[in-house]
Amino acid sequence: MKPVIIGLLGLGTVGGGTVQVLKRNAAEITRRAGREIRIGLASSRNLERVRPLDLDGIRLVADPFQLVTDPEVDIVVELMGGIEPARELVMRALDAGKHVVTANKMLIALHGNEIFAKAQERGLMVAFEAAVAGGIPIIKALREGLAGNQVEWLAGIINGTCNFILTEMREKGRDFADVLKEAQVLGYAEADPTFDVGGIDAAHKLTILASIAFGIPLQFDKVSIEGIADIEAVDVGYAEALGYRIKLLGIARRSRAGIELRVHPTLIPERRLLANVNGVMNAVVVKGDAVGPTLYYGAGAGAEPTASSVVADLVDVARALTADPENRVPHLAFQASAIADIPVLARQDITSAYYLRLLAEDRPGVLADVTRILADQAISIEAILQKEARAGETRLPIILLTQPVRENDMDTAIRHIESLAAIHGPIRRIRVETLN
Ligand code: NDP
Ligand code: HSE
Repeated sequence: MKPVIIGLLGLGTVGGGTVQVLKRNAAEITRRAGREIRIGLASSRNLERVRPLDLDGIRLVADPFQLVTDPEVDIVVELMGGIEPARELVMRALDAGKHVVTANKMLIALHGNEIFAKAQERGLMVAFEAAVAGGIPIIKALREGLAGNQVEWLAGIINGTCNFILTEMREKGRDFADVLKEAQVLGYAEADPTFDVGGIDAAHKLTILASIAFGIPLQFDKVSIEGIADIEAVDVGYAEALGYRIKLLGIARRSRAGIELRVHPTLIPERRLLANVNGVMNAVVVKGDAVGPTLYYGAGAGAEPTASSVVADLVDVARALTADPENRVPHLAFQASAIADIPVLARQDITSAYYLRLLAEDRPGVLADVTRILADQAISIEAILQKEARAGETRLPIILLTQPVRENDMDTAIRHIESLAAIHGPIRRIRVETLN
């Protein structure tokens, strides 16, 4: 059978990994797909950077717009990243009748609705397994493996860079900026690493997971986002003293009132599997009504782990090339006509337990004032950790763990506590999830 010809956009970390995996495992991939999958054309901005790759047999094209309309190409693989020109190239590829595979979570989260609409109209596939959790086949698991379930919630460590930073800070006491630099060298970080540490990359991925889990449109603008840039070593230490680890989690939960979509640093009990996912590894727990909790674990970033997902998509697309478009797996798991408009809750309406760290004057009555304010908002305290003031100091840190509370009530309580004369500086607040 005629080989499937790939037009590859981008020869960086993931593009390079894809070239390597496709070449090394060519025979095995052909056995699985039923025909050879071959990179025919590739395009990259800086050809200097692609020199170490074995590009034998691949025609390099300077203009990516030429590549996406080349008659030889069956599938366009977009591994450039960013919105433009990636969006325009994907739309042009679909206009030209090409199937698309991409690892670009930002593109899918922000423009997936229009991209899938066009693909649907043209009877084309757009596959994006690599866009979420690198090498973990979480899209396939959620879209196909759990298709019999009503998904109740999912929670995941879905940014390898942040998990690498938090792990190195906790295990080796390393400096935040220093570890971030290493993550960049290792190819884990986004071109703009503030997307990683600011929680935006995780929010892109959560947007995609939630859409597939609940059959809702992609709605990145509805995600409450908080990154890890403000996490301090003292919080990592206090969390540990209380039996918790701090992880950047993406959480999507369905309740009667609507869907919670949030990304934030989170204290997780150290006995939970998610608390023990370290380094660049990612993991996602999905709770289905029929199956119960399921856990997916693996490398969340890096050249070959991500290429593993890109190539799996290529095999899927190659297998389905001759199938009737009406009978393919829908892009977002649910039939396009059945996507539901379930409301996404505003941040203030989300319920979560909290870790609070305050710096208080070391004198009687201060803790009583704080607990009274919390009680006024009906917030129950789960645990208190009070450190002794160091010699010569009049201020001491107090750490409180609360029961779950509506964010709006916590906002009010924090405002009142911060206005007390005996409380200094802003209160550090980190959400707590027991993941029961
Ligand atoms: P890189 O920066 O390593 O590679 C991007 C490639 O695209 C480079 O070859 C770059 O050329 C080329 N490129 C970028 N912009 C243009 C442009 N305007 N015109 C032509 N070529 C362009 O990125 P990654 O490989 O790390 O990431 C690629 C995609 O995969 C992104 O969407 C990313 O979010 C996603 N991803 C990355 C993962 C990872 O572990 N790195 C994991 C999962 C997904 P040049 O080198 O000259 O700039
Ligand atoms: N920058 C991303 C991460 C790459 O660190 O998880 C994988 O999507």
